[in-house]
Amino acid sequence: MTSEESRLYHIGFGRADVADAQPSLALLSGDPNRARLIAERFLHDARSLSENRGLNSYLGWLPNGVPIISATSGMGAPSLSIVVNELVQVGIRTIIRVGTCGSIQDHVRPGSVVITSAALCRQGAADDIAPREYPAAADPFLTVRLVEAARALGVEHHVGITASVDTFFEGQERVASANPHLLRWLRGITEEYRHLNILNYEMESGTLFKMAGVYGFAAGCVCGVIAQRTTGEQIVMDAKSLAVERAVQVAVAAAQMWTQAAV
Ligand code: URA
Repeated sequence: MTSEESRLYHIGFGRADVADAQPSLALLSGDPNRARLIAERFLHDARSLSENRGLNSYLGWLPNGVPIISATSGMGAPSLSIVVNELVQVGIRTIIRVGTCGSIQDHVRPGSVVITSAALCRQGAADDIAPREYPAAADPFLTVRLVEAARALGVEHHVGITASVDTFFEGQERVASANPHLLRWLRGITEEYRHLNILNYEMESGTLFKMAGVYGFAAGCVCGVIAQRTTGEQIVMDAKSLAVERAVQVAVAAAQMWTQAAV
């Protein structure tokens, strides 16, 4: 099969494009610029696989010599579900989401990272993959690697449950938006989640974890905290680059540990 024939429609590359390396792990960022940053700054001999639809993907080698893909999920679970399905078709068996999030606990501060152990999954895309009650749990062993990586790097981190929802504004109870009418059932939901010891809001991990359970691959998630929802709704721009840098460092170090045995 030629490279063109094996190319998957959305991610824009296929098995033939990575046949020389056969990567089995992907770091998956929501933002194509983050996927590029990981490839350019953290991987050796990185090359672009595709920039189809803004779903930029790169192949490169970790410092331990293991090939990985740095890919883009796009924003939200529907886009992520397509990318993850196609990455698995290309041979990926471990996915670490490298994202950003909003804290809903006082002690989870902007600039730190949250490592998600499981998600409260309030996402429509996941309903097409598994029953609503199906657990959205990270791979426990990969999660331990993420925690070990954060500890080794001295990165302020928190481990726990994430609320993974479909919308950035309404679903995360933002009232400063174009929508003048927040539905009644969403008013007060952030406080309720705070009492349920949920650490943060983000928009992809729940569906990723359910897909991992159903398809049979390992998934983990580390997110940089860029909003503090106990005090406001805005992105804390001062904390963003540090939070993202730390999340990327933790993900890369965990990937390195995870793949060490394969070297
Ligand atoms: N991503 C989210 O989903 N929410 C935030 O508040 C910040 C990043």
